[in-house]
Amino acid sequence: MTPTAREAAWTRLMSLARRPGAAAIRSLFSRQPDRFEKFHWQGGDILLDLSKTSIDDDAMRALLGLAEAMQVMPARDAMAAGELVNNTENRAVLHMALRAPRSAGFHARTPDGGCEDASDEVADTLAAMERFTRAVHAGEIRSATGEPFTDVINIGIGGSDLGPFMASRALWHEASPMRPLYLANADAHNWELIRPRLDPARTLVLIASKTFTTAETMANARLVRGWLEQTLGTEGMRQHLVALSTNHKATAEFGVPADRVFGFRDWVGGRFSLWSAIGLSIALGCGWDDFMRLLEGARAMDEHFLSAPAERNLPLLLALTTVWHVNGLGLDNHAILPYDHRLSRFPAHLQQLEMESLGKRTTRGGAPVQHLTGPVLFGEPGTNAQHSFMQLLHQGTTPVPADFVLIANPSHPYAANHRLLLANGLAQAEALLRGRGEEDVRAEMLAAGKTPEEIERLLPHRVFPGDRPSTTLVLPRLDAHTLGQLVALYEHKVFCLGALWDIDAFDQWGVELGKQLSTSILPELLPEGRVGPHDPSTTGLIQQLRAWQGLDL
Ligand code: F6P
Repeated sequence: MTPTAREAAWTRLMSLARRPGAAAIRSLFSRQPDRFEKFHWQGGDILLDLSKTSIDDDAMRALLGLAEAMQVMPARDAMAAGELVNNTENRAVLHMALRAPRSAGFHARTPDGGCEDASDEVADTLAAMERFTRAVHAGEIRSATGEPFTDVINIGIGGSDLGPFMASRALWHEASPMRPLYLANADAHNWELIRPRLDPARTLVLIASKTFTTAETMANARLVRGWLEQTLGTEGMRQHLVALSTNHKATAEFGVPADRVFGFRDWVGGRFSLWSAIGLSIALGCGWDDFMRLLEGARAMDEHFLSAPAERNLPLLLALTTVWHVNGLGLDNHAILPYDHRLSRFPAHLQQLEMESLGKRTTRGGAPVQHLTGPVLFGEPGTNAQHSFMQLLHQGTTPVPADFVLIANPSHPYAANHRLLLANGLAQAEALLRGRGEEDVRAEMLAAGKTPEEIERLLPHRVFPGDRPSTTLVLPRLDAHTLGQLVALYEHKVFCLGALWDIDAFDQWGVELGKQLSTSILPELLPEGRVGPHDPSTTGLIQQLRAWQGLDL
């Protein structure tokens, strides 16, 4: 597609989004009573309902035209073919290979123009992870004191924490084989919270870091290694260590035995890595079979993404909805509302997945982007969210598009609670759409015996504008297979947005400067440290911290 075709597609979309009433939703339902039928789709086990957005037939055509002009599907095929689609880091992007069978034959292009096998290596690593997991669960691999391992702690941050933490939280139950715990924050209060719950003699320690250089992870790994060593001695401590990393030299230097290192390649991005060795804590905590079901679920969504036509392709439709809201309507916040407490870490996982991928201001060719890119994403499970930030979604000055995730069948026997949960999720989305008009509020207040004066005074506060967009995803149940589908759906949505916005969704250069500056500030916080040249605010803050620490009196 030529730049002119791209520009024409953007212009067409923007002109539709600027029509008077382009954000109206209720009127679309009046004009098109079968709107739900036309604007919901199913992919695998997931139903996606876009009818409560202001996308109409014309807007959908324009969005699909944009996808074609921006060549999203050819870009998808290039990713699957192992091309170097992460162009600023010159890397292939092959998380799909992690959940595909050996026979899928994925290959990664290398920067020198060569080609490397991916599928065989993935299958070999999975086989090693399975042997290890099953041996730990069977008590064949035991602790240094000869006891079975009962707890597993994953030390990692960002993608080496959020994905595995989210999945373990969703899948773990009382009968699961081990208790998985997650240590991420450099703040040792995090460790202090976890430590009393652990017995070093029964705890397996996974150090999860793609680079094995991340400062927070290495600081925590040293802390926990010391804790093990105190009770078990140096040799005993080594029997409790496992590393999940691409950096084998650094894992050996840290003292992790070579047969306890599970690797992966640089074509696995951190925020897409839960399916790789980084997911070992899920397998240990929730069981090998569930880990495989998780991968199979993601694979099912990959197959849908790779084969469904654009107009029925769930990840693409979800991405186009975001383009409509962000670029068309200028709504650059997005709420994630899973109505299932087991998904309480899902918004946190998506925060990294979406914001680290899509928080970009430069096109793949190096020019400044001419439109908004990644929205600010936040979320909480329902119904908790209703008692926290939903007020702003209903009556705040700017609409915030929201994704509701509803699960038809719970895994607990408390049917009344589940009905209450679903009724609330459905009601929130309906309230956002419907709003509340003056007549309705007046009638309710009259019936409640309010005086005409009171009614007039409170009326403006109690009216809701409505026409606030939301997307609903429904799953029949939440298990490893459907969770895999759900997470992969959002991964592919992110990919589509990267292509639609012509940005590299797989790098994260913006986080580097802060890391470098923290390295230079670190010595300034030592007792003998000297405050170096900074902006006056940073200098003032360091001086105050030092003073309150009693360092510079
Ligand atoms: O925050 C930056 C980042 O590089 C993420 O992309 C990554 O998930 C995280 O740090 C952890 O990196 P590593 O796995 O190398 O420790």
